[in-house]
Amino acid sequence: SVTDSFIAGLPKAELHLHIEGSLEPELMFALAERNGITIPFDSVEAVRAAYDFSNLQDFLDIYYAGAEVLRTAADFRDLAVAYFDRAVADGVVHAEIFFDPQTHTDRSIPFATVITGLLDGMADAEARHGLTSKLILCFLRHLSEEAAFATLAEAEPWLDRIAGVGLDSSEVGHPPAKFQRVFAAAAEKGLKRVAHAGEEGPPEYVREALDLLAIDRLDHGNRSLEDAALTARLAREGMTLTVCPLSNVKLCNVASMDVHPIDTMLRQGLRATVNSDDPAYFGGYIAANYQAAARARGLSRDDVVTLARNSFLGSFLDDAAVAAHL
Ligand code: HPA
Ligand code: ZN
Repeated sequence: SVTDSFIAGLPKAELHLHIEGSLEPELMFALAERNGITIPFDSVEAVRAAYDFSNLQDFLDIYYAGAEVLRTAADFRDLAVAYFDRAVADGVVHAEIFFDPQTHTDRSIPFATVITGLLDGMADAEARHGLTSKLILCFLRHLSEEAAFATLAEAEPWLDRIAGVGLDSSEVGHPPAKFQRVFAAAAEKGLKRVAHAGEEGPPEYVREALDLLAIDRLDHGNRSLEDAALTARLAREGMTLTVCPLSNVKLCNVASMDVHPIDTMLRQGLRATVNSDDPAYFGGYIAANYQAAARARGLSRDDVVTLARNSFLGSFLDDAAVAAHL
């Protein structure tokens, strides 16, 4: 069996991490105090006790509320520094992190405040740990196409520091097709494209992400397995899936870790990776995700090495950097 130290010592890339979802309750309280904000919880324990979700929307309501303590560039820097410090302990050497600018610009926090803070944190992680990172700007899919276009326009001065665009938030009822034009505009600006699809939404949403958004990487993608032809296509095309085991169980998209499909994905030839999604809310960082999945599904050392290798193959690092990590 695979030991925790084998997993922690294995160099890996994290490809599915919402930086706002790495806000630990302790930092939430510290930032609330620093910014003179009151939050509707008495203690760190009370916050953690509220993290009991039945579905994605349950989680999102709490996640957006938690983000309200983030106000200044220093807040975003401290958030990112805390995540990178934690990730390094889990063997992460490269991270491609999502941020949700609309969660902040809709509260009158300027785009520049958010991104300068995150970029500061990224520079700090590279200087102190040698950890490299990239930013992926996510559009909130419960908001309009027009709002996504406005966000892309706000990102214009920063495009040389943004690797790609993504699509997150409430999936069902907000199919990828809604964002076809804004993803095409992002592609024209040279941005990579990823999208959450098949987390709660049907296989058809994964098809739309492939055919209408021309994604370079698929976030979650679990429900693809319901469709054999789609699964075969993803394998044939070498599409990377950013799978998040603890998230899947916490959001009740998988009944328990004992029935998680991570091993099925590997056996079917999918380029699956393991990631932490929103680790402060789902009970563990990336190594805990590898450990839980490996233990429950009886993954071998070879399987775990394959998952880590897939994380570099699926990254947006250039070929020389990928080769250096394999
Ligand atoms: N799914 C969709 N939107 C999200 C998630 C997720 O797992 N985490 C943060 N925003
Ligand atoms: Zn996610």
